[in-house]
Amino acid sequence: MDIQKVGVVGCGLMGSGIAQVAAMAGCQVVVHEVNDALLQKGFGRIHGSVAKLVEKAKLTSEQGESTKARLKGTTSLADLAPCDLIIEVIVENLDAKKKLFAELGKLCKQETIFASNTSSFPIGEMAEASGRPDRFVGLHFFNPVQLMKLVEVIQGAKSAPAVVEAARAFGAKVGKTPILAKDTPGFVVNRLLVPLLHEAVRMAERGDATFRDIDIGMELGCGHPMGPIKLLDYVGLDTTLSILDGWHQRYPKDPLFTPSELLKRMVKEGKLGRKSGKGFYEWEGDKVKG
Ligand code: 3HC
Repeated sequence: MDIQKVGVVGCGLMGSGIAQVAAMAGCQVVVHEVNDALLQKGFGRIHGSVAKLVEKAKLTSEQGESTKARLKGTTSLADLAPCDLIIEVIVENLDAKKKLFAELGKLCKQETIFASNTSSFPIGEMAEASGRPDRFVGLHFFNPVQLMKLVEVIQGAKSAPAVVEAARAFGAKVGKTPILAKDTPGFVVNRLLVPLLHEAVRMAERGDATFRDIDIGMELGCGHPMGPIKLLDYVGLDTTLSILDGWHQRYPKDPLFTPSELLKRMVKEGKLGRKSGKGFYEWEGDKVKG
């Protein structure tokens, strides 16, 4: 099962990154968004990133141009029907994802493999909604997709081994190291990372140390490229809260998953991190100010 034609549904930060690395790897990519304005915004992000890679000689200008030429935008799901693989990267809302997969299940050719980039929802429920649970996996990429070298391949209870293998080969084709994970909350990375980020917020909330010192601690003490609070800002406080909320609903008795008051308050105040320009830190584009 060689994957040549890829559909990406959702062209936000993660979707645009996934579409870009697939196109850089030589796949034909159809990117779906709900309207032209969002498509244009996503393509702007991709073109900016390609330009940066060309500027840094990570891509030649010909490779940059051919990458852009392999990407097509659409607002019609029907255009995804002939894809070999479709990766869902829409809002983290389980009902919306199930609805999308039910629709794609009706539209797409029988062989199409479906994948979700969900950070935390069970693959199994979406797989059932698609009507083809044997051809369904999780493909979880990391932010920024263009630079991070990992993809988690999540095997649902009914995923066919050949489909898991095809997804793993696709991950390697786009330059990532694939790891296999079962369909458990947070898979491998988020199951460890989200509690770390959350505990850092709790430490700041209790006043155990300043958020800056917590970050310096983990950057210099453990060699993390970004301390947990900076990474929380980078990933998004709202994204992290929504992962925690989902787990809290499923495991209400586990205190590890009970969202901190400070995190909830900051999200309510619109302090979402890098995406809103302010979280714990102030941000200018991809960089912390000052
Ligand atoms: N496309 C192209 N180039 C990019 C880019 C992109 N999207 N993003 C950054 N770059 C460029 C930068 O512009 C920079 O170029 P420059 O040297 O010309 O300024 C270069 O790449 C390196 O960037 P930085 O200077 O910011 O250098 P760093 O060495 O600090 O690397 C980083 C940045 C890779 C983001 C690093 O800080 C890092 O690894 N941070 C941790 C990220 C992480 O943990 N991600 C996982 C989050 S969890 C997740 O995604 C799961 C989800 O489900 C929640």
